[in-house]
Amino acid sequence: MRKEQRAFVVDVVGQWLTSGQSPRDAMAARAEIRRLPAASRAEVARVAAQVIAQQRWLSFARNEAVLQSPSPRVAAERLLEAHHQLAGDAAALADARARCAAIADPIVRLATRRSLPDWLAGEFVACHGDGADGLLQALGEPAARTVRANLLRVPSREHLAARLVALGIETEPGRHAPWALHVRGEQDLFDTAAYRDGAFEQQDEASQLAALVAAPPPGGRVLDLCAGSGGKTLALAAMLANKGQVLATDVSERRLDALRTRLARAGADNVQVRALSGTDLPREVAAFAARADRILVDAPCSGTGSWRRRPEARWAVDPAGLAALQATQDGLLDAAAACLRPGARLVYATCSVLRGENEARIEALRRRSPELELVRVAEVLGGSCAAPIADPTGTFLQLRPDRHGCDGFFAAILRRPRPRGLRETPDVGR
Ligand SMILES: C[S@@+](CC[C@H](N)C(=O)[O-])C[C@H]1O[C@@H](n2cnc3c(N)ncnc32)[C@H](O)[C@@H]1O
Repeated sequence: MRKEQRAFVVDVVGQWLTSGQSPRDAMAARAEIRRLPAASRAEVARVAAQVIAQQRWLSFARNEAVLQSPSPRVAAERLLEAHHQLAGDAAALADARARCAAIADPIVRLATRRSLPDWLAGEFVACHGDGADGLLQALGEPAARTVRANLLRVPSREHLAARLVALGIETEPGRHAPWALHVRGEQDLFDTAAYRDGAFEQQDEASQLAALVAAPPPGGRVLDLCAGSGGKTLALAAMLANKGQVLATDVSERRLDALRTRLARAGADNVQVRALSGTDLPREVAAFAARADRILVDAPCSGTGSWRRRPEARWAVDPAGLAALQATQDGLLDAAAACLRPGARLVYATCSVLRGENEARIEALRRRSPELELVRVAEVLGGSCAAPIADPTGTFLQLRPDRHGCDGFFAAILRRPRPRGLRETPDVGR
């Protein structure tokens, strides 16, 4: 790594240590980094992300409390030094591994080796048992670069792939989502006419699959309650082929502004956007929800499944924060369930791999609203399509980077049954 790139990594990591700013935001804020050639910029991003994610492991390898260095800048320099040393010096790596293997407490050992807080390592083991280590290892790897072909602008993902190849950008189709292309290499995707024309959006395959399982019926109405900057909103708008209606709501005006820009680029004109001030739904949103075919709750969560993309997230949550997130998740689920009309579906999604934010929230909802029925992912996607991406019973969407190559993700689908005697209309969603 060149001296200039090292200085940028120190800058970005130092900024995270000082203010908690994400490496993505820190890089976007620095014109001199934005001006780097795409491959150099990608290397700065990759190394900064690894240093932030592996902060605990790197401090352990140096055998010192690096975060107590005289300044964030010095701490960042020391962490980067350790990163390079472990990458290039097999003896140093073997020494750190041997010292780690000698830690008696298995949770502290796992937390040190995979670089996360002890309490969170305990949660991973409680949820994933022996699979926790492999999952944590995969969550520490760089994320795939994946785009979603926007079928409002291109006829198919094959057309998009051909258009990208003509720009020198090689891709391969995603394994599970029908619109996904994984991008090879480091070329700048956003400085292309294809991006400016809205031919694709950057979106992890897991997030695309969450939209897929929402499966709005043709011409249907969808409330996307936690739309954020609209990753799933845009996919839903395209699934509806610009027909029907999507109402995208969120408490963050900033994210909704980003969504408006993306909607215009994507050519989606079946989406309305509305800011919320909390979990209580304004009258017109509740009225839309009561007529909706789908209500998507893509809930705020710990983000444990998306650590490859957001390395700072592993240090941002604590037990009280996790409990607060679960309370918000319950509040959003109750608000959505209260509006759900008979025959309509509530789709709950998180990018968490923790049971407490996933299955446990659905179990709690069903204790509060026992009339809601679970709809199996296998029923929505078909058994053979669902089998590789669902839990063993085919009920929930359950994705992990070590098994599926995408972010960790969870989705559950619930339906309010129609009153007895009313005929079920076949659901042709997809
Ligand atoms: C996981 S993110 C959504 C990501 C988005 N759906 C996408 O696909 O890009 C969760 C969102 O929930 C929003 N949020 C938090 N509390 C909320 C609430 N009470 N009502 C609606 N949205 C809320 C956050 O602002 C955040 O944008």
